[in-house]
Amino acid sequence: MADLDDIREGKKFGIGVEVKNPVFHVKGADNLPWGMKDRLTRIFNPESGRTVMLAFDHGFIMGPTSGLERIDLNITPLMKYADCLMCTRGILQSSVPANINKPVCLRSDAGTTILTELNDNVVVDIEDAIRMNVSAMAIMLAIGDPAMEAKTVANLFKMADWGSKYNIPVMGVTAVGKDMARDSRYFGLASRVCAENGANIVKTYYCDGFENVVAACPVPIVIAGGKKLPEKEALELCYKAINDGAVGVDMGRNVFQSENPVAMIQAVNAVVHKNFSVDEAYELYLELLK
Ligand code: 5RP
Repeated sequence: MADLDDIREGKKFGIGVEVKNPVFHVKGADNLPWGMKDRLTRIFNPESGRTVMLAFDHGFIMGPTSGLERIDLNITPLMKYADCLMCTRGILQSSVPANINKPVCLRSDAGTTILTELNDNVVVDIEDAIRMNVSAMAIMLAIGDPAMEAKTVANLFKMADWGSKYNIPVMGVTAVGKDMARDSRYFGLASRVCAENGANIVKTYYCDGFENVVAACPVPIVIAGGKKLPEKEALELCYKAINDGAVGVDMGRNVFQSENPVAMIQAVNAVVHKNFSVDEAYELYLELLK
């Protein structure tokens, strides 16, 4: 029971008791407005601070990519294990059930396909992103590409302006051209440029020295999976990335091209959210095959 002094001092009513604001669970987001934080919280689990994003946007460059031919059969069964879905508006509106209740990171730019050189790039209208109630907008940056660098930086800049106007976070995606070095200097530069230009999340690739990429990037980093690897190697990639400071994955082919995508996404989830080791996660994967 509060004693008289406490009551006189107002402590009984919480007056004068220091209230500590919890630090927001997403890196670099403390100063953002409520709407941004709400959307980021839909993407990044507030308990683990991490996310498993399922990327199935490949068709906008590659057409009906292997494993993505039928969104309803190949991807819909995976959705419940993902924290966030990353796709284009065409797939979202045609093939993602509207009652799935998962945050969407909308692939918000488009350019040429694998059949031609990348030489132009356009972005989705912000009103369309708002109409689709997306939780983030993903924009690719072609850093170091003489033809595309300025255009793609301008795209990110524009989306960050729109994003801050309507409280929709932007994810900068660091593309890797054929001639680009895949090292920590390149990814460090590209990731930092994304953040400096207003990205709230950066998607990049794991590399040696990845901890330096993370340290110099003021916003959370998630990694792409890249080309299909054997399952255990893909889990090792996730594990190393998380261990070196990534706060999640935005993974596509290593999930939907797996021998068993439903088991694979659950094993990835266990590495990201439950700190499973590679062996534990692979064991889980094998267990789920039974
Ligand atoms: C391409 C992308 C893809 O979504 C990304 O590469 C993730 O897919 P994967 O894990 O298959 O590499 O953003 O620009």
